[in-house]
Amino acid sequence: MYNGNENIVICEHPLIKHKITMLRNKETGTNEFRAIVEEIAMLMGYEALRDLKLQYVDVETPLETASCPVIAGKKPAIVPILRAGLGLVGGLLKLMPAAKIGHIGLYRDEETHEPHEYYCKLPAPIELRKIFVVDPMLATGGSAVAAIDFIKQHGGKDITFMCVIAAPEGVEKLQKAHPDVKIFIGDLDRGLNENAYICPGLGDAGDRIFGTK
Ligand code: PRP
Ligand code: URA
Repeated sequence: MYNGNENIVICEHPLIKHKITMLRNKETGTNEFRAIVEEIAMLMGYEALRDLKLQYVDVETPLETASCPVIAGKKPAIVPILRAGLGLVGGLLKLMPAAKIGHIGLYRDEETHEPHEYYCKLPAPIELRKIFVVDPMLATGGSAVAAIDFIKQHGGKDITFMCVIAAPEGVEKLQKAHPDVKIFIGDLDRGLNENAYICPGLGDAGDRIFGTK
């Protein structure tokens, strides 16, 4: 569907697909749900970090001096969209333990489905970092667009958005508003229902991660 758009990546790894199916199952309880979200974050992070820059440094092996690759370039920042985005942070931190963490608090109005901001704090200087904005769900796209608007207003430039499940409506809105942002998607679903929930989806990601409702 998005063939040819190199800024939109739908992850094809079978482990990611299998784990997302487990999340979709309404019988999957909070404990397991949370653990699987973390595993998916790590697997998706592995895909999303493929283009990290390398530089060569000399290393003394027990036998000789060798020129070996290490990660170079901008330092990372992970920015979860609260609440549900928090579920993805642990998995990404396993890959990037030194990453700084920002937080953007947004909730969707149940009637209008518009995002409302309640908290924002970003690591400074954000403009020098490679930023990963994370949220399990990209539904209408309102929350992702608002979060990235905010990050750009504060100087953020190099931004990747990661979600576990996306609706085509959200991908289109995000792509239109922020064509420079790379979007990593675990699974692309059919679309939104009348309450702007993703179908087939997995329900309310925040409630399932935190055991609320
Ligand atoms: C959910 C989800 C996204 C947003 C997606 O959060 O985690 O942030 O909805 O919907 P959108 O693409 O239509 O904006 P929610 O507002 O339910 O808040 P929560 O994470 O606190 O549960
Ligand atoms: N937010 C969720 O948690 N789930 C959806 O399906 C849509 C928005």
